[in-house]
Amino acid sequence: MLVSGSGSNLQALLDGEGEYRVVSVLSDRTGVRALERAAVAGVPAEVVAWKGDRAEFTARVCDVVEKAGAEAVVLAGFMRILGSEAMERFPHRILNIHPSLLPAFPGAHAVRQALDHGVAVTGVTVHFVDEQVDHGPIIAQVPVAVRPDDTEETLHARIQEAEHLLYPRVVTALASGAISVRGRGVEWAPS
Ligand code: GRF
Repeated sequence: MLVSGSGSNLQALLDGEGEYRVVSVLSDRTGVRALERAAVAGVPAEVVAWKGDRAEFTARVCDVVEKAGAEAVVLAGFMRILGSEAMERFPHRILNIHPSLLPAFPGAHAVRQALDHGVAVTGVTVHFVDEQVDHGPIIAQVPVAVRPDDTEETLHARIQEAEHLLYPRVVTALASGAISVRGRGVEWAPS
């Protein structure tokens, strides 16, 4: 798993282990809560620092993933964009979770933008990562209703509750071979 921050999705995925296992955690920064969560769970963690060159950073991240023997790369709050080498080395094996119903509100301020826009419904998207930000084939989406008195914090908290239910479900399905992708189309095998 690739993380940069609090790691609440990492925690949800650790708690949902069974069909899959979190074999390694990678952060682009030190001192984050996600690394503490990895330590408590006994999962090896590594920091790969950003040095300003995307291709070089991507190559180092891919090497760590490969060394860990990971079959999939799960991003959760990872604040760096990976270069094309990652998609070439792990085709349709890199997932991301985003706090909106894509293609609405891509980028780092999705929750605030949904509120500012006055939408009645926003939500969560899990998608494969491609070379554009918050853009790859959509695997699953869950709606979250916006309440009249919502702040960015209250809305993000409800979105995160939905994330913590959805992400382990999607990774379980991926691990059991139930998800296939062709072009932008993602199919779930009937359960
Ligand atoms: C999540 O809301 C995710 O959608 C966004 O960043 C947040 C990460 O939270 N990409 P956490 O680090 O998993 O708690």
